[in-house]
Amino acid sequence: MNNITSQQKRESVKKNYDLIAKHYSDEFGTYIEDLDVYEEFEKHLKENAKILDLGAGSGRTYSYFNERGHEYIGLDFSKEMRNYAYKLHGEFPCIVDDMVNLKKYFANNSLDAVFAVYSLFHLPIEDLKQLLSDVYDVLKNNGIFLFTYQIGKGEGMTDEPYLNENGKNVLYMSYQTNEEIESFLDSFSYTKLYRKEKVETSDSAINSNDATTAFVLVKKKTK
Ligand SMILES: C[S@@+](CC[C@H](N)C(=O)[O-])C[C@H]1O[C@@H](n2cnc3c(N)ncnc32)[C@H](O)[C@@H]1O
Repeated sequence: MNNITSQQKRESVKKNYDLIAKHYSDEFGTYIEDLDVYEEFEKHLKENAKILDLGAGSGRTYSYFNERGHEYIGLDFSKEMRNYAYKLHGEFPCIVDDMVNLKKYFANNSLDAVFAVYSLFHLPIEDLKQLLSDVYDVLKNNGIFLFTYQIGKGEGMTDEPYLNENGKNVLYMSYQTNEEIESFLDSFSYTKLYRKEKVETSDSAINSNDATTAFVLVKKKTK
């Protein structure tokens, strides 16, 4: 895929989510999967925490954290996903932009937590490395960061089941080995709090390749 730029890869993801926003929202808009992971994250959150959700999708995370008294800000580059989120959950702070522009919106040391579940696997590796660095910067000391990645190697275009009638292999995905992620994280000052692997079994868009999703929760250490 060397002939396509990072920006083109991300643009293709955005177009995909604009097209499938209704299907995705009908299936996942209000249903919280991985409740155990959400609860683990919450255990380490301070009260009234300021949380940024990267790749907020159709807003299920907003309702979960809002109900628990936290200050939630979503960010997603698919305007259609954001519109469905508002339909399902009412309006809430949600930036419509590419997460590579994160630092345009947040100053260093300004967030208690960053949550990025089932979204970073759409970032080309060069963007992922930069994003991990940006997240570290915007977190306060003792701020926490939960993210997922798909275990594997390299990148590729996968099928998007919601778009079967429109064509195959349209969804850009990026995969990382555990060693790659460990080595990225080791370049920052983080305490590791939690890790879980989940073998995906459903045939939903995200989970098409019998992939394994890894969840990682870390805390920024005061230097
Ligand atoms: C599989 S959905 C997950 C949504 C939500 N986190 C959830 O668990 O329901 C991935 C979301 O990430 C968003 N996304 C992917 N790449 C992004 C990027 N570079 N910048 C902003 N949003 C992105 C997509 O638009 C989509 O809404």
